[in-house]
Amino acid sequence: KRVAIFISGGGSNMVRLLEDMNKDDHPAEPVLVLANSADAGGLAKAAQMGVKTVAVDHRPFKGDRAAFEAALQAELDTVQPDILCLAGFMRVLTEGFVATWEGRMLNIHPSLLPKYKGLHTHARAIDAGDEEHGCTVHLVTPALDDGPILGQATVPIEDGDTPETLAARVLKQEHELYPAVLRRFAAGNTTPITL
Ligand code: GRF
Repeated sequence: KRVAIFISGGGSNMVRLLEDMNKDDHPAEPVLVLANSADAGGLAKAAQMGVKTVAVDHRPFKGDRAAFEAALQAELDTVQPDILCLAGFMRVLTEGFVATWEGRMLNIHPSLLPKYKGLHTHARAIDAGDEEHGCTVHLVTPALDDGPILGQATVPIEDGDTPETLAARVLKQEHELYPAVLRRFAAGNTTPITL
């Protein structure tokens, strides 16, 4: 299976996906890492790992999401991926784009969905006094952070946690969860896993 990965920043999840796909027994191979900014630190990491990279800056499109997404699709057309992984990709995609990729597009979100869709998930879990938090990999559907869950990992919220200390604990689990889910998904297995 051919996998394209969308990032916006450092791409730590993307790196772990590439590392896992480098193993011989993995059913997928990376064909593109795309960022919505040329400044995304993950682009250099992906290039160092031998993967084709491209930046499609969203800013020139000034809110014309359809035009931005046409540019995204044009890049995807050059590599023909079977699966699209959003990994720290911080742009909301329109229903139209999602419909094109529905059933073949995954996202990782730093909360135990359906709790805390959207942003600032760690602060919200702490403020709510939750004992547990975590991350979720799900299939992308038009509604934000709302698709069928493919995997979750749970971490404890410790006394004295700040959003930063909790985010760091969750991110470590993201790095285990996303590769495990992609391996299974690429092999055609959509039975949800819990780490
Ligand atoms: C992190 O907040 C992570 O929880 C979320 O996207 C952000 C950046 O991840 N998935 P990455 O290091 O760019 O993969």
